[in-house]
Amino acid sequence: MKCRRCKAEAEVALPSHNTAFCRDCFLLYFSRQVDHAIRRHAMFTRADRVLVALSGGKDSLSLMLELANLGYSATGLHVDLGIPVSSERARRRVEDFCAMHGLDLKVVELATEGLAIPEVKEAVYRPVCSICGKIKRHYFNRMALEGGYTALATGHNLDDEVARLFANTLRWDEAYLSDQGPCLPDEGGFARKVKPLYRLSEFETAAYAFLRGIEHHKDACPYSPGASFTSHKKLWGELEWKSPGSKVSFYEGFLERGRPAFADRDREKGFELRPCASCGSPTSQELCGVCRVRAAVAERRGG
Ligand code: AMP
Ligand code: FES
Ligand code: ZN
Repeated sequence: MKCRRCKAEAEVALPSHNTAFCRDCFLLYFSRQVDHAIRRHAMFTRADRVLVALSGGKDSLSLMLELANLGYSATGLHVDLGIPVSSERARRRVEDFCAMHGLDLKVVELATEGLAIPEVKEAVYRPVCSICGKIKRHYFNRMALEGGYTALATGHNLDDEVARLFANTLRWDEAYLSDQGPCLPDEGGFARKVKPLYRLSEFETAAYAFLRGIEHHKDACPYSPGASFTSHKKLWGELEWKSPGSKVSFYEGFLERGRPAFADRDREKGFELRPCASCGSPTSQELCGVCRVRAAVAERRGG
């Protein structure tokens, strides 16, 4: 197969786009998809400072490298979950990557914050993964606001977004359908959240990471039963195989025609948000959810 752009021998086949690229043209295609997403949704400009949440996985590290290559001002943020072995490995990947490419990095240690995930797991009676996600989003937001960043970027790709949208649609979850998208505005104590990889599939970010030689963290979290939405992703993989382009048209169609229909079904509507008495994050109660978890961990330690 030949590269669509330059007719050299192709290295990456992209059936969804009915095309194939050589290494250099694939990297160019990837850059253009990222830049197109950023400009189309007015995520940020080259004058802005962006905080990029780095888990150590292929998506977030690819995003960080691409933003830096495109000339955006990107600072990494890693949340060290404090899980023995797994968190140490993930953190080392992120630190090595940033050092190698000369990129700025901030690290939040949940153990120092009184929220090490193994302790949280013992102190709460809900599945730890959902609380862990909540804690991570809390620190993403706080670090972005306190550091004066224009936006907080995550490495969610097209497959993540389609699977999540599909799950929300199956439940007709109006609240989530009202605020799912690649660019959520900054308002009411929340930083702007952006997903510049939302037009690129998991396969494409994996190909990018491979071609750029990015060493990433591959191990699954020891506490999670499996990656999220695995069965939905599998279903969509089959659909895409039979009908290339389904994922992107489902997602872009939602943004254009679906989401506006849910615009006033905001999750927080009806709740008055005020600053958490302990940390200042927006909450409808005296203490925010994360500060309540921290109190539960402290109580268990003391008891
Ligand atoms: P996940 O929910 O694990 O698929 O991660 C989605 C995105 O959240 C990643 O692409 C990262 O941008 C971000 N992320 C997840 N875990 C962490 C972490 N421990 N530290 C910083 N960012 C993270
Ligand atoms: Fe948070 Fe597994 S519990 S990543
Ligand atoms: Zn709080």
